[in-house]
Amino acid sequence: MTQYEEGVVSAEASDDERVIESALRPRTLDELIGQNRVRDQLGLVLEAAMSRGKPPDHVLLSGPPGLGKTTLAMIIANELATPLRITSGPAIQHAGDLAAILSSLSEGEVLFLDEIHRMSRPAEEMLYMAMEDFRVDVVVGKGPGATAIPLEIPPFTLVGATTRSGLLPGPLRDRFGFTAHLDYYETSELQQIVHRSAKLLDVPVTDDGAHEIGARSRGTARIANRLLRRVRDFAQVRSDGIVREDTARAALALFEVDELGLDRLDRAVLDALCKRFGGGPVGLGTLAVAVGEERETVEEVAEPFLVRCGYLQRTPRGRMATPAAWKHLGLAVPVDAAYAPSLFDVED
Ligand SMILES: Nc1ncnc2c1ncn2[C@@H]1O[C@H](COP(=O)(O)OP(=O)(O)O)[C@@H](O)[C@H]1O
Ligand SMILES: [Mg+2]
Repeated sequence: MTQYEEGVVSAEASDDERVIESALRPRTLDELIGQNRVRDQLGLVLEAAMSRGKPPDHVLLSGPPGLGKTTLAMIIANELATPLRITSGPAIQHAGDLAAILSSLSEGEVLFLDEIHRMSRPAEEMLYMAMEDFRVDVVVGKGPGATAIPLEIPPFTLVGATTRSGLLPGPLRDRFGFTAHLDYYETSELQQIVHRSAKLLDVPVTDDGAHEIGARSRGTARIANRLLRRVRDFAQVRSDGIVREDTARAALALFEVDELGLDRLDRAVLDALCKRFGGGPVGLGTLAVAVGEERETVEEVAEPFLVRCGYLQRTPRGRMATPAAWKHLGLAVPVDAAYAPSLFDVED
């Protein structure tokens, strides 16, 4: 394990965290905070289907981790008052795995397929047919003697979730009647999420305290809930147990999450980029060595948020700091040719 892993601002959930998260999940569309467009559209889709007495169209939920895809899948089943079956792309290695699940669904059941972009090809093809015709062909035997036995499956609703909708093959994407794209939350929405979770966890929190946590949560509900728990720990041990603005600040300083939600790795990357490489361009590999991290960690953990903040640019010649990055580090923006091509560019 490297020094930056297990980050307090990672958007992925750890195993222990899943248990806590399930207690904090909104159960109905009304309880959901933010994502107003998705909530209105989905509400309509579900209501119309219920009034027709038929399962709704298949739903694709796409968006970055921690924004509420799993939560929405559970809400859909709950609103429809149908059972929910949960599986994921990586769990379905063979078409047979999928056939087994599909054939055991009850009528109208919601099948939640998380990380649907990671399903195997043969399973994907079986899924096309199941989604469209509520039928699968189970192949028995091998070679020229193989026969396909058609198997009827009861009408169901597939809810697929993906962080990479671009990786889904067109034919699969086309079979979803409704696609919801989840967006990052505004600070005011995260503030409400913190309030709601604090109530469920029985933690007293002031408006300013909730705002401070929301502002540092990278637009992500999961991170807001996690930072709230760290601040709660701090408030209970070092203070009177109430989460106020100053407790939130002190706690998050201790956990090295800054005003914008940048953590130690993010700042190390910016620091190396500006101070050691004059703002770049510098190759990913070089940058990773400079901060003592794996390339993948820098690329997948730190960079997306730095790009989103407008601090880092990925260019064909390498990574470059923007003027905003220099300012964030409290440094003067260099006036020389830092943003012009250099003879010494490091290519990846
Ligand atoms: N709109 C929301 N309102 C309140 N809490 C939310 C909302 N969206 C997500 N959460 C919380 O954030 C956490 C992560 O959500 P989850 O649905 O697991 O994200 P995803 O599946 O997209 O990674 C859950 O604990 C959930 O309670
Ligand atoms: Mg999820």
